[in-house]
Amino acid sequence: KRLSNLTTVLENPKIGEVTEVKGWVKNLRVQKELIFADVSDGSCGKKLQVVIPKHLTSDALSYGSSVRIVGLLSKSPRGQIELLADTVNVLGSCIVSEGYPFQPRKTHPPEYVRQYLHLRSRTNYISSILRVRNALTMHIYDFFRSRNYLNVHTPILTSNDCEGAGEVFKVQPDSDETVKAMMQEGKDRDSVYFGSNTFLTVSGQLHLEAVCRGMGNVYTLGPTFRAENSRSRLHLSEFYMLEAELAFCDRLEQLQEVIEDLFKYVFVKTRDTNEGDMWIIDKENEVPSWSDKKFITITYEEAINILMKKGLNVSDEGINKEQELAIVDHCGKVPVFVVRWPKELKSFYMKECQHDNTKVDALDLLTPVTGEVVGGSLREDDYQNLKVKIPSERLNWYLELRKYGNIPTGGFGLGLERLMQVMCNISNIKDTLPFPRWPHNCDM
Ligand code: 4AD
Ligand code: MG
Repeated sequence: KRLSNLTTVLENPKIGEVTEVKGWVKNLRVQKELIFADVSDGSCGKKLQVVIPKHLTSDALSYGSSVRIVGLLSKSPRGQIELLADTVNVLGSCIVSEGYPFQPRKTHPPEYVRQYLHLRSRTNYISSILRVRNALTMHIYDFFRSRNYLNVHTPILTSNDCEGAGEVFKVQPDSDETVKAMMQEGKDRDSVYFGSNTFLTVSGQLHLEAVCRGMGNVYTLGPTFRAENSRSRLHLSEFYMLEAELAFCDRLEQLQEVIEDLFKYVFVKTRDTNEGDMWIIDKENEVPSWSDKKFITITYEEAINILMKKGLNVSDEGINKEQELAIVDHCGKVPVFVVRWPKELKSFYMKECQHDNTKVDALDLLTPVTGEVVGGSLREDDYQNLKVKIPSERLNWYLELRKYGNIPTGGFGLGLERLMQVMCNISNIKDTLPFPRWPHNCDM
């Protein structure tokens, strides 16, 4: 008896062998003497047709139930692989009338499915997305491994607000207020945990830079947190960020090259390994216009000129989401690097442009569907310059990195969920991961 997951059974069918499968019934067609069940086990987007003589079944065999089926693997007259069941065990029944929210052969709108985060991995749409996410992650690791980058796990608990945007989640109870109160009560530092404000990280960059200055090219892929009060289709409170830091990097072009290669590599690989899923996620599944085109580069100033010509007003706060998408449209929906940003719009650690200290060597990559998907820069590597800009004494360790065997570095952060959106044309970021978190939504 061959016990395999469906991917193996369907990719390498052993016709004529007794085969056991375990999975969930996705569809049932009842005929006079036979029942046809489509069974899926989550390992791929395909389903196995199981032919079941009626006398082997009970009412418990229904849409949504979990089953174990043993039978002979065969080919139907039409050439379809099917399992001729001789044993059917319903492992868990699924009683739709008790509130199961999904129905067979029906495409439920994503907003509806989102109400059932705990059950939605049973839908075709979400299960395909989760398989693509899995594959994409593997391909990202492969990309960096093949280039000899070191994978580093940066901390989630931290005392820095890397981006300085004040969007940190505080970890209680160690707020400065708590510490102060404890001190006033005459308690010593041992009675508090970290003894200073502690946050969930908004970016692993500063820690990544430390290791980069000791070991060369590094990257990390991990959870990051932003207490942004944004309920848009592009923002989450918790998301995964891929961050890379390049050693001996003194030109933005070096970063751009890695980012563009990465995009194209993971796109081709994921399409290769998960094409079926990509068709399920996006019925059009058009190969995006950019897959074989060179990405475009424009300066911030040029971006502003494009927007002004379109009659769009740009505020002091920079380019908004709608404007980002307008720029991408203007560039023929090819991803656009916007480089050389006004200093005041960007974070303290960015390096000033040579010959123009009002600008920093920063880049944002804008793409169709999401607008900004990557943010990066060269890092300020001059001790004195950084000392002036550093926002807090708590970052003295970061400053000190410039004192001992310092090197120029540059790096970037890519939102994994936004990358999923771009690659699969997923309009709402909340559908790119199993349990999205956004304001007022952390219950499940
Ligand atoms: O542009 P950001 O804020 O850059 C940084 O954090 C740098 N420290 C990264 C680095 O240089 N190592 O964020 C990087 C990317 C954004 O371009 C976006 O794709 C994603 O992270 N991102 C979010 N994704 C989902 N929800 C949010 N609230 C996000 N905020 C940023
Ligand atoms: Mg950014």
